[in-house]
Amino acid sequence: MEQQGKRRVLSGMRPTGRLHLGNYMGALYNWVRLQDEYDCYFFIADWHALTTDYANPGDVHGKSLNVAYDFLATGLDPAKTVIFKQSDVPQHAALHLLFSMITPVPWLERVPTYKDQQEQLREKDLATYGFLGYPLLQSADILLYKPKYVPVGQDQVAHIELTREVARRFNQLYRSATTPEVAAAKSDKELMKAEISENVLEEVVFPEPDALLTPSPKLPGLDGRKMSKSYGNTIGLTEAPDSIRKKLKTMVTDPARVRRTDPGNPDVCPVGDLHKLFSTPETLAKVYDGCRTAGIGCIECKGWAADSLNAHLGPIRDRSADLETRPGLVEDILQDGARRAESVAAASMREAMVAVGLRRA
Ligand code: TRP
Ligand code: SF4
Repeated sequence: MEQQGKRRVLSGMRPTGRLHLGNYMGALYNWVRLQDEYDCYFFIADWHALTTDYANPGDVHGKSLNVAYDFLATGLDPAKTVIFKQSDVPQHAALHLLFSMITPVPWLERVPTYKDQQEQLREKDLATYGFLGYPLLQSADILLYKPKYVPVGQDQVAHIELTREVARRFNQLYRSATTPEVAAAKSDKELMKAEISENVLEEVVFPEPDALLTPSPKLPGLDGRKMSKSYGNTIGLTEAPDSIRKKLKTMVTDPARVRRTDPGNPDVCPVGDLHKLFSTPETLAKVYDGCRTAGIGCIECKGWAADSLNAHLGPIRDRSADLETRPGLVEDILQDGARRAESVAAASMREAMVAVGLRRA
């Protein structure tokens, strides 16, 4: 179904395999809520996996399927949203190549994640062309669909800024040939004349998108640090209720609350953070009161946190169980998504190629 008249939103996620609660709260939770208001495109950025893990990519396809599965389990709905895998739509690679022709290398060297990540992931040898260019691949991912908004976390804002600069540069260098005047001017050297006509000046191939900053609530892992696969402190999105309960028992608490009789403070406790995200106001009030007066023990408090979290994850677990009984469904949805994405991507790519003079309109 086409989403006529709705503004377009696009975002992507790297194929990390099964998702954890941190991945969910940082992105999908918000994406699911955008589906009704916007014409949404959400994709699995599988080429991006190779920009850092080219030496040991593992089963990237399998990991992409896992992520697609979790997209559906959390409530992304293929009837409302186009869900696809980046490498299934060849125009991402093609537009990246075209953009590489016009992008000054210092623009990419200046992207803050470039030097940071190279230093942090020293063992991976990221002095590659692909790693330098990955924010530009992201620009191509975005601009192919000409979205109004790109929902991302704070860590991606520099990439959206680069995307805007690339769009601006492309639009300055090449005008869209979609207006008859420009198409004619390109072929008979009347470009100068066409350029002064106002309606032509308004034509741009790639409108600049805006970041739609995803509120990223603090979601601590079991050890109190940010939840991350590399810290081994995660809670799985479709993990069994008992397993979640057991894990929460090991979660760190307010370090000032050593004995049961010591009062604590939920605002400095990772379990308190979970309550703030997932508990009802009534439970939250009981936590604040009980913790500060030493009226409850941490074991009891963690039990309530497990209840709240399990209630929240119930519908995700149910959809996941349903997906398990329908083999091949995820693959079919990705295939259909790729077809729908490609019809948009191919039109943009054609327009860009005409604009640069690689083909005729
Ligand atoms: N770079 C993003 C990340 O690491 C993933 C991504 C790739 C993306 N292409 C995108 C996000 C396009 C938004 C739009 O999270
Ligand atoms: Fe944390 Fe709850 Fe213990 Fe307070 S009672 S320190 S909020 S686990």
